[in-house]
Amino acid sequence: MPDIYSVPQAKSICSIPTPVYELKTLTKILGGARIFIKRDDMNGPPNEDSGNKTRKLRYLAGEALSQAADTLITEGGLQSNHCRQTAAVARKLGLKCDIIYGCKRPAFLDGNALLVAALGARIHFSGDVSRIEKRRKIVEKYKSEGRKSYDFGAGGSTSTGALGYIFFFEELMKQEQESGVQFDHVFHCSSSGGTEAGLVFGKQIFGWRGTIHSVVNDPVAHGKHHREFAQIIRDDIKSRYNLNVTPVNEVHDFSEEGYGETTLEDVESIRMFMIHEGIYIDPVYGAKSARRMLEMVRNKDISPDDNVLIIHTGGHPTMQHERYRSIYSGINAW
Ligand SMILES: Cc1ncc(COP(=O)(O)O)c(C=O)c1O
Repeated sequence: MPDIYSVPQAKSICSIPTPVYELKTLTKILGGARIFIKRDDMNGPPNEDSGNKTRKLRYLAGEALSQAADTLITEGGLQSNHCRQTAAVARKLGLKCDIIYGCKRPAFLDGNALLVAALGARIHFSGDVSRIEKRRKIVEKYKSEGRKSYDFGAGGSTSTGALGYIFFFEELMKQEQESGVQFDHVFHCSSSGGTEAGLVFGKQIFGWRGTIHSVVNDPVAHGKHHREFAQIIRDDIKSRYNLNVTPVNEVHDFSEEGYGETTLEDVESIRMFMIHEGIYIDPVYGAKSARRMLEMVRNKDISPDDNVLIIHTGGHPTMQHERYRSIYSGINAW
C-alpha cells in the first residue's frame, strides 16, 4: 500500500510554493478581516496561467511517467481548464495527449478549447456516447496497438491527483511560519471534488487549525451530486493511503444558479478583484469562491480579527469564451 510520500512527482511541471499576497485594497474597502490570496494560478511551467489542475498533475503525470506511459488521456467539458492544463503538461513532458470533450463538435473553438487545439492535443468529441465510454474505447485502442497510456477522469480528481492538495497545507503552514500570519479561513471553489478532498485530508494530516470553505459551483453536475462524488474520492484516498483521519470542512452550495451561470453578485465580485487588485477572476469557478468570501467578510460573518485566504485556482481562458466576453468587456460600466 503506497503512503502519501511514495507517489512519484513530475516536479518540473508545477512550481511550488505558490506566492501568497495580501489584498490590502479589498481589505480596506470591506472594513473587516484581512484578505490574502494564494496564487495557485501561477504554478506553471509550462504556462503562467496554470491552476489547481497543475498541482494535481504533478502527481498524475508523475505516476504516468513512472509507468512508462507515452500518452495522457483525459476528459472534460469544452471549457475545461483541466483539459487545457493536461495538454500543456503533456507537451512539457514530451508525452502525447488525447482530450475527450463531452459534446458534439462545435462550430468553432475558443477559450480553453482553442488553447488545447493550439497545444496540438488530439481532440475527440464524445457526441452521443458518454465521455467515460469514449475514453475507455481510446484506451483500449492504444493498448491493442501496443501503446501504454495513462488516463484519468474529469478534473484529475483521483486519489493520486488529490495528493497535490493534501500537501497544500504543509506548504501553507511553512508560509504562515515565515510570514507570521496565521490564516483562520481558506476559501476555494469546488467542482469535481479533488481539490476539496485533498484539502480536507491535508488539514487533518498536517494539523492546520482553521476552517476550509468549499464553495460548490455545480452540485448537480453530470447527474451526480457533488457531495456524493466528493465522498467517493475521500473514501478512495482513505483506503488507498490507509489514512485514519476524519475530514472536516464547511460546504457552501451554489445550486440555485446552476453550473456556468453568472449572477450580478458574481460580476460584482469579479469587478472587485479586477478593479481594486488587478487580478483576473474567472466566471465559472473563481467568481463563486470570491463572491462567498467577499459576502462573509462584508457581513462580518467572519470576525474582523481573522485572516482570510482565498486560493486562486486559475481559469483565466474562460474569460475569452463567447458566453462571458461581454462581462469582461463591460467591466467599467459597473
Ligand atoms: C479554475 C478552477 N477552479 C476550481 C475548480 C474546481 O476544482 P475541483 O474540480 O478539484 O473541485 C476547477 C475545476 O475544473 C477549475 O477549473
